[in-house]
Amino acid sequence: MKKLFLTFLMILTPVLAQASGGHAHLESAPVDPFDTDSLKRGAKHFADYCYSCHSAKYMRFNRIGKDLGLDEAELREMFIFTRDKKGGPTKIGEQMRVAMTDEFAKKAFGTKAPDLSLTARARGADWVYTYLKSFYLDPYRPTGMNNVVFPDVGMPHVLAPLQGLQKAVYKTEKHGDVEVEVLDKLEMVQPGSMTEEEFDQFVGDLVNFMVYLSEPVQAERRTLGWKVLLFLAIFFVFAYLLKKEYWKDVH
Ligand code: HEC
Repeated sequence: MKKLFLTFLMILTPVLAQASGGHAHLESAPVDPFDTDSLKRGAKHFADYCYSCHSAKYMRFNRIGKDLGLDEAELREMFIFTRDKKGGPTKIGEQMRVAMTDEFAKKAFGTKAPDLSLTARARGADWVYTYLKSFYLDPYRPTGMNNVVFPDVGMPHVLAPLQGLQKAVYKTEKHGDVEVEVLDKLEMVQPGSMTEEEFDQFVGDLVNFMVYLSEPVQAERRTLGWKVLLFLAIFFVFAYLLKKEYWKDVH
């Protein structure tokens, strides 16, 4: 009994650790791997706003073309601005690399810009969604901005022209006898070119695309899963009838 209890506790530990960690509340990302229009918009946003600094080297251009229904001309217009090592046009089957080197990024931002192929899986879609929405003004940071879920982040707030600029509002909390200032909420001080709903949709599409990047077969896997379940359900009927037929003489 004691052993069972210990095993149960061990299984539960990571769940409890996760529940107690991460103070910031994460917003839920509207992810739908079957929404190809959203994925296409997300791909465009990624190309326009992220792909200058971040690579996605586990993905190839033509795979996106195949999955999202984009032809070569559309892919080239959207993503491919570089030439290959020999000076020829970058091939459509190439991985999504960027021209910026890690050395340059370290000088410019103090750290390299990580590859984003697997980020949505490593961090979780909700984290990425909340991250992109929670940059706030902070005069003590080199970029003038900080982030609620990624404190002292090196990335500039590249979506500021769309979202606008937010400032942090603090409140005082009592922990025993000690009073501490904690972040209460973010408040818009200078609106961007988009309304809040438009920006949410923009970031939602972008995160949807990043989730696709991190597991391109997800839509296929889910469809296949249903087909397998359906097959098993039908197979069960025949297996049962067969069993009855075999055992009929025994009973
Ligand atoms: C000007 C260069 C630049 C652009 C453009 C840029 N980023 Fe970043 N990004 C960075 C740098 C540098 C970091 C590393 C920050 C750090 O570690 O402090 C980073 C970090 C991140 C992280 C955290 C990754 C992790 O797991 O630690 C995410 C997510 C991210 N960027 C997403 C995006 C998205 C989405 C876009 C497009 C909207 C974008 N970035 C555009 C430079 C950039």
